[in-house]
Amino acid sequence: MSQPLDVLGGITAEQFLAEYWQKKPLLVRNAIPEIANILEPNDVLELALDENVTARLIKQKDRDPNQWSVKSSPLLKADFQKMPKLWTLLVQAIDHYSFDLAAMWKKFPFIPQWRRDDIMVSYAPQGGSVGKHFDFYDVFLVQGYGHRRWQLGQMCDAETDFVAGQPLKLLPEMDVNFDEVLAPGDLLYVPPGLSHYGVAEDDCLTYSFGFRMPNVSDMMDRVGDKFSDNEALRNPLTDIIRDQVSKVGEVTGNELEYLKTKIMEQLHNSNVLEDAIMSLMSEPKYPENIPEAEEIGTGDLMEAIDQGYRIMLEPASRLLYTEEDDEIMFWANGEGICISEQFTQSLKQIADGQDILFDENFADEDILEDMAALLNDSVIMLVPPAEEE
Ligand code: SIN
Ligand code: CO
Repeated sequence: MSQPLDVLGGITAEQFLAEYWQKKPLLVRNAIPEIANILEPNDVLELALDENVTARLIKQKDRDPNQWSVKSSPLLKADFQKMPKLWTLLVQAIDHYSFDLAAMWKKFPFIPQWRRDDIMVSYAPQGGSVGKHFDFYDVFLVQGYGHRRWQLGQMCDAETDFVAGQPLKLLPEMDVNFDEVLAPGDLLYVPPGLSHYGVAEDDCLTYSFGFRMPNVSDMMDRVGDKFSDNEALRNPLTDIIRDQVSKVGEVTGNELEYLKTKIMEQLHNSNVLEDAIMSLMSEPKYPENIPEAEEIGTGDLMEAIDQGYRIMLEPASRLLYTEEDDEIMFWANGEGICISEQFTQSLKQIADGQDILFDENFADEDILEDMAALLNDSVIMLVPPAEEE
């Protein structure tokens, strides 16, 4: 992957990762021209009223724009009445509602699926913003409609102070060292911690391609859950260390060491750690966005072969794999899954973001059974030729 990429303004992915990723911002003009006009402001307004969508409506008081309010979804028509001059509507996981937008993740093949969070869209009229702030995540801000002026400032961290008494974590000030107006298709990469402030120049839509990283606390939680599901570990340990009399109130160093060793043995000699981490990382962010599948059987699938269908990952689902010593293991939507040998390579391609033609290569009972199970769980989907992106 060492050829220059248009989405990165002509530098290679390796250069971007070495010089910019997690470190400094990058502005690319006309990075993703195809993103312009996929959605218009009214589409976002309409979607925000869908009861299943995760959205926030942020308003600034006309009398004092330093007074902010936030209304979280479900949003109702009434929330959009008597609007102040300055407001922003944020809608999360817009990639789960538009295949065209979900396909835009393909512009970032150098960041793996497990790091993806979601694509959020913001809609604001002239002057609207979410204030000066920083995020703990990497984000590619891509202008989709209209124009937004972005200012960037100092790096911040967990110690940074926020403006008191407001429902948003706003920065009291920013040392502006970057000031540019983005037009449709332009991209601005903002690393974690960098303060930023985006103000709409006209009716504008901005997409945030957000990335996530697990934290140690969540990983430990999952490890604990996996161990507590294991009945065999519920039996009390044997007291093999009781070879001398110790003080009644004391737990000796030896005893403590023995107990700790028992935990360490489990961590080292089982695949629980790997399973816990992979389960966590394959958890969907918005499980409610995973559509209910229409029950399908292997017979139906057999008939659909060679009809021009393509197999794809369902945008709201997550499918990850590990590959070690030729052993490939899959996790989908938070759980480990068993896949027949014959289907492994195709499923790997699907997890890698490819869509593949459902042709006679799939005419195998084991493959069709795996496919039916994954289709019925909405991990993958079959796209008819006409709807293909
Ligand atoms: C926005 O698009 O207005 C907010 C996105 C961000 O600042 O992260
Ligand atoms: Co931000």
